[in-house]
Amino acid sequence: MADLFAMKNRVVLLTGASRGLGRDMALTLAGAGARVLCAGRTVKELEATARAIARKGGKAEVVPLDITDEAAVREQVDAIVRRHRRIDVLVNNAGIIYREKIVDTSTATFRAAVETDLVAQFVVAREVGRHMLARRYGRIVNISSVMAILGRATVAGYVAAKHGLVGLTKNLAVEFGPHVTANAIAPGYIRTELNVALQRDKGFNAMLDQRTAAHRWGKPEDLRGPLLLLASDAGAYMTGHTLVVDGGLTTILA
Ligand SMILES: NC(=O)c1ccc[n+]([C@@H]2O[C@H](COP(=O)([O-])OP(=O)(O)OC[C@H]3O[C@@H](n4cnc5c(N)ncnc54)[C@H](OP(=O)(O)O)[C@@H]3O)[C@@H](O)[C@H]2O)c1
Repeated sequence: MADLFAMKNRVVLLTGASRGLGRDMALTLAGAGARVLCAGRTVKELEATARAIARKGGKAEVVPLDITDEAAVREQVDAIVRRHRRIDVLVNNAGIIYREKIVDTSTATFRAAVETDLVAQFVVAREVGRHMLARRYGRIVNISSVMAILGRATVAGYVAAKHGLVGLTKNLAVEFGPHVTANAIAPGYIRTELNVALQRDKGFNAMLDQRTAAHRWGKPEDLRGPLLLLASDAGAYMTGHTLVVDGGLTTILA
């Protein structure tokens, strides 16, 4: 059965691999046998991820990339395809969040969230997708959020972009089938640098305890199984799907 989820010799491009969920995903995919191309803006942190993978006997490379720079995305994708002949799996994980009430949010701030969390995901998926279509193989995994299902005060740009990413995932599935699948993961609250302020907020912790069947924050490890399912051949007949991994947060009215 382990073969079903195997990533042996798969070439994976993973954005936001420098820290948080992306770092854990990089280690998970490399641990399953993939060569992980770790993309992001902070090269030092990407190198740390790549070293951690190498220490465990895995294969990793650093890909310096700002996903909002369209020309750079094109250049890096072409360079990777020249080097490795293919990209088997794309994990569109990089993301940002701004916290401000709508009435205080400038259009520029709203646009910045949508640029990174939706437009850039489109650009990366389009550029990688061209090669996947030509090779007639590919797995695209977009990291959305429970904020694609719920609204929440102060994060309008993020909520709008994450909803949009679920829609984009469906369209990628429609246009890239039958050999390329596109799915999304919608994580609940997982402890990372993205939500340090919430981790310290007593009221928020009490709410999360009450509103999740799991009665706890998520850990990056909680996404390992869902990621391998959608990135490997185990998920071959799944496409256009958003897999919610939230400890029950969106199914409970507490
Ligand atoms: N943590 C949660 O509870 C949670 C819940 C739901 C969804 N998510 C989603 O999961 C993903 C990862 O979140 P996280 O919690 O791991 O966040 P994080 O710790 O803040 O990490 C974000 C990652 O994205 C990269 N990134 C941001 N902007 C980028 C850009 N323009 N170009 C390239 N890379 C960029 C960052 O690297 P550099 O800054 O070095 O570029 C970093 O590696 C995000 O899409 C987030 O929305 C997280």
